Amino acid sequence: MVQQKEYLDTGILQALEEILSKHNPKSIFFVTGKNSYNLCGAEKMLEPIFEKYKHVRFSDFSVNPKLDDVLKGVSLFLERKCDFVVAIGGGTVLDIAKLVNIFSENKANPQDYILKKEQISVKGHPLAAIPTTAGSGSEATHFAVVYIDKTKYSLAHEYILPDYAVVDSSLMMSLPQKITAFTGMDALCQAIESYWNVKSTEESKNYASQAIKLIIENLEDAVLNNSDISKKAMALAAHLAGKAINISQTTACHAISYPITSYFGIPHGHAVGLTMPSMIVYNYGVSKDDVLDRRGAGYVKKTMEDFFEILGVGGAEEAGEKISELMSSIGLCTRLNELNITKNDIDMIVRNGFNPDRVKNNPRKITENCLRDMLEELL
Ligand SMILES: [Fe+2]
Repeated sequence: MVQQKEYLDTGILQALEEILSKHNPKSIFFVTGKNSYNLCGAEKMLEPIFEKYKHVRFSDFSVNPKLDDVLKGVSLFLERKCDFVVAIGGGTVLDIAKLVNIFSENKANPQDYILKKEQISVKGHPLAAIPTTAGSGSEATHFAVVYIDKTKYSLAHEYILPDYAVVDSSLMMSLPQKITAFTGMDALCQAIESYWNVKSTEESKNYASQAIKLIIENLEDAVLNNSDISKKAMALAAHLAGKAINISQTTACHAISYPITSYFGIPHGHAVGLTMPSMIVYNYGVSKDDVLDRRGAGYVKKTMEDFFEILGVGGAEEAGEKISELMSSIGLCTRLNELNITKNDIDMIVRNGFNPDRVKNNPRKITENCLRDMLEELL
């Protein structure tokens, strides 16, 4: 696996200066959001650096990375003969940067890599990923999300892991309250889904449990009061959750969220959180007949009980309630009908959200009917 160098609260300016002076790039491909780069304060902070280095900025894309946007980036990258990538932004920005970098060096049709008809064989140029939201943890993962039409794909390869992750919570202070809430929920669900994942390891569970604890203690304060301390804790938590899913990936809450985002425009973190309380109760009901984790039903039960302890609750129902209450306290509704999703929509969500690859990571076997029942109860 490619080794990543982390800069956690070194400060973006110092970290980037150190990284760039080491590589001395001739032409930097610089990926940012359209407005967030300025709003988060990075533009002003980094002026002295970008005066020194030749660069081209790419921000011509919308939220949720689309293949067409990535292809525009690849053309620009090749035209300007870039040899280094800096990405500053939320999950979409970081994923676009990872994809442009990898497709600029792997020359077959990008769609073929996404559809697994071609194998990635060449590492891209060095990439420094700098998140401006405490959410996706994309700076710490070896995969990138991309949408073709309304279908979500995840491209995974060790060469996709950014060479550098620079986490600086000062970039997150000006985030709108809602974005802090959505992205924080994403980080929390990623950490929980990693914790109970059939592919979890001691290492991933350690990252995930630290992340869950930090988020439970700090998300509400980060959203409602925007305090330095809670924002710093959330930045670290999201990064740890990213490191956790880099090992284990996610499970059913993520799988079912994608059509909710694609078809109803519900932001990713909110869409993921909707099924989390029900999934906690469902997974704790695991038995030897439906366990998918080869470590057995007893192991899964124990993992769930350890998770309840991290949350500071006594059981599955209470854990689900705690997550629902947290969502409500940060302004996220928890019922589908409040989001204009009706009974008639549920079949379509299940059809598009039942990703066999992702639901097989869930510790308890889950069928389309289970998901349908779960969603109906959330109406
Ligand atoms: Fe996510």
